[in-house]
Amino acid sequence: MDLQLPATAPISAGLPATVSEYTQVWPQPQPTPVRGRPSIKRIAVLTSGGDAPGMNAAIRSVVRTGVERDWLVFGVNHGYAGLIADDMAILGRRDVGGIIGQGGTMLGSARCEEFRTEEGRRHALDVLAGRSIDALVVVGGNGSQCGANALSEMGFPVVGVASTIDNDLVGSEITIGVDTALNIALEAIDRLKTTASSHHRAFLVEVMGRACGYLALMSAIAGGAEAVAIPEVETDPEEIGEKLRTAYERGKPHALVVVAEGAKYNAEKLAAYFAEHRERLGFDLRTTILGHVQRGGTPTAADRLLATRLGAAATEQLARGEAGVLVGLNKNEIVATPLADVAGKRKPLDMGLVALAEVLEK
Ligand code: F6P
Repeated sequence: MDLQLPATAPISAGLPATVSEYTQVWPQPQPTPVRGRPSIKRIAVLTSGGDAPGMNAAIRSVVRTGVERDWLVFGVNHGYAGLIADDMAILGRRDVGGIIGQGGTMLGSARCEEFRTEEGRRHALDVLAGRSIDALVVVGGNGSQCGANALSEMGFPVVGVASTIDNDLVGSEITIGVDTALNIALEAIDRLKTTASSHHRAFLVEVMGRACGYLALMSAIAGGAEAVAIPEVETDPEEIGEKLRTAYERGKPHALVVVAEGAKYNAEKLAAYFAEHRERLGFDLRTTILGHVQRGGTPTAADRLLATRLGAAATEQLARGEAGVLVGLNKNEIVATPLADVAGKRKPLDMGLVALAEVLEK
């Protein structure tokens, strides 16, 4: 259960934030059909699930490209929870100034149980109707896009923006936050290798990724690790021990294994196994769990640019009246994938890279 923080102050100081306030300033639009026509006047944007470096750049892009189309853009605080609570404010160009280089999300994020229920989603639709909002942009990962799909199936125009450090979303070969999270893992690995070399020690680094081994595999390859353990491949701790021992025997000054948090033998279990069999294995593992450190970085150039492109693509989709999709990147092109094909699925890991890691780690 997340801590229940007090509602944030309106983001857009000086701008009207309630229905009655803004209808005095902006005329009410004509009632709009729920889907399929480019008559958008008001949209809302929210960030949901685990935050990812680059989310702010996506918000900024949605707001500025929306305003450019003369739309009124609402920023919803704290994800779907804020939507249900009608916690939102109008954002103008200046409200999103200076955020492109900041990690986290200025709107806040949450995991919302209530939105998983139909009642919760109906409540959210009432809130959107109450503010005459025509469409919603959801910046988030797997769980968030399941919510987006559910809302879309209820007839509301939604566009998802692919954002998660886990890189497990179908519909985008890379998602917002992955590059930054990878670089943070790499910096940690490089540092650990330095001290590992000084002491001739074996180290274990656990990275995030939920049930997906992408971050672990890529940071192991890019960091030159001696072994990697991921959920997609059965892990034998004895085999890991063997890889680390032979690394020393071949004259390497360090031995480092990268473990995905979702692996059968995660950091805790692997370290416990090595401690239990220390005498026979001949060494133990010093453990570092990166955890949320990986999500807290300053977004890299790649993440800022990806988020900016995807945010702009989201408003473009809405302008064309083509909602019900996730915007992502494939072969450096923006692609739109039906949310129904994204929700509840997990992108498979490239097993060719697993094989490559095994060759390179020797
Ligand atoms: O989905 C992003 C992610 O950071 C996962 O890698 C991780 O398992 C999870 O979120 C952690 O969630 P929370 O921040 O709610 O603890």
